[in-house]
Amino acid sequence: MNILVIGGGGREHTLCWKLSQSPQCKHLFAAPGNAGTATCATNLALGVTDFNGIKAAVLEHQIDMIVVGPEDPLVLGIHDFFIQDPLLADVGVIGPQKAAATLEGSKAFAKAFMKRHDIPTAAYAEFTSETVGEGEAFLEQSQPPYVLKADGLAAGKGVLILEDLNEAKKELRQMLLENKFGKASSKVVIEEFLKGIELSCFVLTDGENYITLPMAKDYKRIGEGDTGLNTGGMGAISPVPFVDDSFKEKIEKQIIIPTIEGLQKDKTPYKGFIFIGLIKVEGAPKVIEYNVRLGDPETEVVIPRIKNDLVEVFKAVQDNRLDKVKLEVIPETSATVMAVSKGYPEAYEKGKVITGISEDEMIFQAGTQLIEGSILTSGGRVLTVTSFGENHHKAVQKSYETLSKVNFEGITYRKDIGFDL
Ligand code: AMP
Ligand code: GLY
Repeated sequence: MNILVIGGGGREHTLCWKLSQSPQCKHLFAAPGNAGTATCATNLALGVTDFNGIKAAVLEHQIDMIVVGPEDPLVLGIHDFFIQDPLLADVGVIGPQKAAATLEGSKAFAKAFMKRHDIPTAAYAEFTSETVGEGEAFLEQSQPPYVLKADGLAAGKGVLILEDLNEAKKELRQMLLENKFGKASSKVVIEEFLKGIELSCFVLTDGENYITLPMAKDYKRIGEGDTGLNTGGMGAISPVPFVDDSFKEKIEKQIIIPTIEGLQKDKTPYKGFIFIGLIKVEGAPKVIEYNVRLGDPETEVVIPRIKNDLVEVFKAVQDNRLDKVKLEVIPETSATVMAVSKGYPEAYEKGKVITGISEDEMIFQAGTQLIEGSILTSGGRVLTVTSFGENHHKAVQKSYETLSKVNFEGITYRKDIGFDL
């Protein structure tokens, strides 16, 4: 099979690394990819939402399947684009169609989905510019902290958690009346604040059957002790020590099964990954958000733990026979530590030479570019080092040892991944 992975981050390098190990994978491509995917796939200089460019590449390289990494092309309907084009209709697409991708594309849609299908989540209400006064009154009756969410995609910045009522009202007005997050905040969800510990749950479904992948926990804040600004993710660990069998069963019964059945009842076809952001509140799982893709850097700890041939698994998704797949998981703990550019997640420099990337280690590249034989930084999150160990302490320690040999000017990483477990 010829396969194209859409995207260019650490998640996509990990997917390419895994897919390229399959004897069934003939030619592997990444669009746009990075210097890491270039080691195991052919990079195509295409944007992830350039559907016509992707179509031309699929036809030119006789690609049989595309695997969509990020949310943007899914929310914009890349899967529908393939189904509707007779030249592309036979190409497999791993990633849901637009209707179901709205679970990530609209927080209000996701909340209504959960309400309709009795899936535990925070209580909420939604407001638009026409109901901003009601929104302010709603805040006045709520307890702090106040959780305000822009309805649409806002590059991970659309959620505000505020202690002060007046500030919350001001932010609500800015979101609804002054386009604080552009069109994404023309609708705002105000939510009950949930106190607990978060984890990431990944499900792969063919629309009828599903398999649950290993759970993971990611570290979103830039600073040690979970302080400072939110980032795309500074590290991750899998499995999650506080998820025991009974909690797993609650997640499956109360959340995963109603989600899969809900998609079927709503007649929204889904072939792909569902990333359920969960919070454990007094022993009970609640959904914080749905994403319609794998997480990054969670992929970098989850995928390496899977022993199965991933091409075989994806073919089962395409052919609606995921019930025949038995997932085999490496029991050891995997940990990943992300190295970022100095200044990230605010303004940062690019174009720094990276040294010390050893092929003997699991180093997944994110913001990197191959220029005249040198690997240069090209993004905020640069690369992540994944290691295995008998527990998360040992796995993280190994990643730090490997990272100590990697260098670029301004290299920054958290030294405390797993500190809270
Ligand atoms: P989201 O983009 O919905 O994942 O929200 C970003 C982050 O905000 C989450 O990972 C949580 O840490 C936090 N968050 C979102 N919703 C809530 C909530 N209802 N209660 C507490 N924290 C929340
Ligand atoms: N690590 C969180 C995400 O991928 O959204």
